[in-house]
Amino acid sequence: MRSAPFTLLLSAFLFAVGCSDSGDGNGGEAGSGGATGGTGGGATTGASGTTTGTGDATTSTGTGDTTTSTGTGDATTSTGNATTGTGDATTGAGGGDGGSDGAGGGASARVPAASASTLREAGEKANPPILIGAAISGGGLGNNDYKRVAAAEHSYVTTENEMKWDSLEPSSGNFSWGSADNIVNWARQNNMKVKGHTLVWHNQLPGWMSSMTGKENVTNAMRRHITQVMGHFKDRIDTWDVVNEAVQTDSDTGVGNPRMRPSVFLNQIGSNYIDLAFQIAREQDPKAKLYYNDYSIDARNEKVEFVYNMVKGMVERGVPIDGVGFQMHIGPPNNEAGGADVAANMKRFTDLGLEVLISEMDINRCGGVVTADEQLAYYHDIVEACFKLPKCTAITFWGINDGRSWLNSWSGALCNGQSSQSLLFNDQYGKKETYNRVMNALLGR
Ligand code: XIL
Repeated sequence: MRSAPFTLLLSAFLFAVGCSDSGDGNGGEAGSGGATGGTGGGATTGASGTTTGTGDATTSTGTGDTTTSTGTGDATTSTGNATTGTGDATTGAGGGDGGSDGAGGGASARVPAASASTLREAGEKANPPILIGAAISGGGLGNNDYKRVAAAEHSYVTTENEMKWDSLEPSSGNFSWGSADNIVNWARQNNMKVKGHTLVWHNQLPGWMSSMTGKENVTNAMRRHITQVMGHFKDRIDTWDVVNEAVQTDSDTGVGNPRMRPSVFLNQIGSNYIDLAFQIAREQDPKAKLYYNDYSIDARNEKVEFVYNMVKGMVERGVPIDGVGFQMHIGPPNNEAGGADVAANMKRFTDLGLEVLISEMDINRCGGVVTADEQLAYYHDIVEACFKLPKCTAITFWGINDGRSWLNSWSGALCNGQSSQSLLFNDQYGKKETYNRVMNALLGR
């Protein structure tokens, strides 16, 4: 279906390392892709504003010099931690640097917890807090170890497949809520927040929808789907991936001829279907956080330039978008992205006044494209890049344990049923070194 270019096919070597057991064997045909990322400077968040920065000038209680503390940052988008603002004139100026670096209005870096025994706790004790998420599957919840680790280590849930169009509306106008409700109810029992994934997407669409013709028909079907789904979960879900993967490039790595992706929505409604989907979602829930989500936009490449301009246009037109999810599927068939790239890239989006989130992180080792050491460095540095940015509000991993990773059976991921070794827990639900690197990043180490 899609092939990724691999210049480093050391597969004979790394396959031997890689691969233990088979995964869930998921169907579907979501796409992702990715090669090596671009360059992008290692911008970090605002310099010395950090813990003592004076934060948002309009609300700051810090004693820093307000004039300098605002820097060139946009005070209205600041997430500066005003409550801890005790900066003197010197740190106030640091806050200003933060603004000019785009962290927002003198906003400084997030302050890590001094210690934590779970990822969830590290996220909850950070200031401001950050959600630590996982994709959860109905099948996984049949396993007690899976459930235990999922709830202990995470505060945020994305249903892996159960809220996709083909699950929720398998035939026109007939909604099937059971499997999604099960996960949402389990999450709530464990005090976990849920993100709805995903309202409008070209993949995992039922045939009746993907073959629909006529602008009015498709518009009406999209409106009904968004309205019904958000309405059903209204009291339980207030963050949504409204549109997923609307942009494509020749390579799944985010390189070559970036353009809007053909789909029943684009083909029948036109490119303003994206604005329309967000507007419908906003009408349904005035307070929900509404996100655009995509893959291989993690580093600086052609795809993310296109997405950046698309999202910037939406903001300028007043389309109700609150944030952008960077899927962060690293390794085949998707992009690679170093921590500095990710930091610089995310910062541009927060400069538009948006939240950013890591929405589907995993790092695939199959095919030897990403080495063991690279995987560890990526996990630490990418999580650190998000953590340091107060407007990066969540880090979600795409699964719990390696054996259930979607990549194990995903075409293009080079795993051929073997383990992608892509996650934080092994098949006995033990913590891997990848877990330790993530924890270090969350604790500012
Ligand atoms: C994947 C699931 O993990 C698989 O089980 C399924 O077969 C295909 O979809 N981008 C997304 C996710 O937005 O919904 C995809 O999830 C992975 C890529």
